[in-house]
Amino acid sequence: MILIVDFGGQTCHLIGKRLRELNIDSHITEPEHALEEIEKQKPAGIILSGGPSSVYEKGAPTIDKKIFELDVPVLGICYGQQLMSHLLGGNVEPGKTKEYGPATLSVKTQCDLTNKTNNSFTVWMSHGDEVKKLPNGFYTYATTETIPHAMIADPAKSLYGIQFHPELIHTQFGLQILENFAWLVCGLKTTMQKIDKKHVQILVDLVQESIPSGTAICALSGGVDSSVAALLVHRAIGSRLTCIYVDSGLMRKGETQELRQVFKDHFRMDVRIVKAKKLFLDRLKNVTDPEKKRKIIGKAFIDVLTKEAKKLNANYLVQGTIYPDVIESAGTKHSKNIKSHHNVGGLPKTLKLSLVEPLREFYKNDVREIGAVLDLPKSIVQRRPFPGPGLGIRIIGEVTDKKLNILREADAIVREELEKTDNTIWQISVVFTGIKTTGVRGDARAYGETIGIRAVEAIDAMSAHPSPIPHEVLRKISSRIVNEIPTVNRVVYDITDKPPATIEWE
Ligand code: XMP
Repeated sequence: MILIVDFGGQTCHLIGKRLRELNIDSHITEPEHALEEIEKQKPAGIILSGGPSSVYEKGAPTIDKKIFELDVPVLGICYGQQLMSHLLGGNVEPGKTKEYGPATLSVKTQCDLTNKTNNSFTVWMSHGDEVKKLPNGFYTYATTETIPHAMIADPAKSLYGIQFHPELIHTQFGLQILENFAWLVCGLKTTMQKIDKKHVQILVDLVQESIPSGTAICALSGGVDSSVAALLVHRAIGSRLTCIYVDSGLMRKGETQELRQVFKDHFRMDVRIVKAKKLFLDRLKNVTDPEKKRKIIGKAFIDVLTKEAKKLNANYLVQGTIYPDVIESAGTKHSKNIKSHHNVGGLPKTLKLSLVEPLREFYKNDVREIGAVLDLPKSIVQRRPFPGPGLGIRIIGEVTDKKLNILREADAIVREELEKTDNTIWQISVVFTGIKTTGVRGDARAYGETIGIRAVEAIDAMSAHPSPIPHEVLRKISSRIVNEIPTVNRVVYDITDKPPATIEWE
């Protein structure tokens, strides 16, 4: 466990979230209670967070100096670094200018924190003060153009300080630096356990206990979470589980066939593929507002599932809810609704089904590991996120069968070409923009559709950057789309960050 001491930084909670992504427990405490928490919780390491104060200011939050003598590794981030330096005899002063945003970190000497990073990379700064003189025993390991002591350490005592914020995804290698601190400096590596057959068997046993008799249904979308949940429950209760896959007509090319092949043919599960394209398209007729489309699609899913569930007379509903869904759905008091994300939010209460959520305690990476242990094919285990409303929100304007067919073909070409490259793209979406433009085909004027491509890098979907896809790959994709789909005569690549642009166009 790592103890995070909160000095009031905006991103203090994010440090805990990043550690959770690394499967590392953390606990946040206030500076006044740090010593007693250390005594009580015996952390393997301590992180001092950033904060808005200046260490030399009257009343600035501080910490008992004893924590640096306990033989517990410490990582000070921003204000945390400044406070540690100040308390150990260094000097902190206002910088020439306040610095917010990117800076290039140059590693001068390797240390545990820079394990597996580049020698020069982008970090995110947000500070007014800086460390001017190091305490005794400390050395400088990295600098930026404006900050001479951007990464410092007294390695003999396992005390580390960095001026930038590794918890922000804009900091390249930020997660790596936190992992290095936890694994290499604090020695937490042994607590990292890969999920294996034994763990999965425990989950299967738990599902068996929670569904001792009767039957269950599971809405299977083909995404990682619902696929792993369904497979796990199938291991536990076999033919007492029926999966329902709603073929809404809004899926990508080949998706329904792959699902049938994997779950019905290979795993021999009872999967009902309900053909509901007509219902979805009828309800979406003449609807152009993105929020209305989302609501209509969500409601249509529920209606189809309700009908099927009634036919099956099931007692349990299996859902692939994972831990981030649990946190995110709680929402925050002042957060605004940007888009009403649709997930099958449960069937109507009148159906009286008990909920079974075997993945509720897990993060996406765990779920992928569980899937791999269950022999789920890589194409599903490694599947990129795909929105519940499917291609319905990737067609700008009214959704029609004709537009869906064009988009499906374009999407298949994009994915096929990108799969040939060594890509680590987090999410790819292809958009039917609804904009018609002029082109020329066989010496004649053509007036055709415009396809948009959006490929992004992200860690969670809260922020994202466009992927730097090589130009020649984009040109190959564009050339294939306009040649193989005659009604399309233009392809554009979306180079906008989120924020301000969301990942999906609608
Ligand atoms: P945005 O477009 O808000 O998307 O930047 C963030 C992530 O959420 C996915 N997304 C959805 N997923 N129902 C879903 O299940 C939705 O209505 C929905 N809208 C967006 C999106 O694909 C991205 O991964």
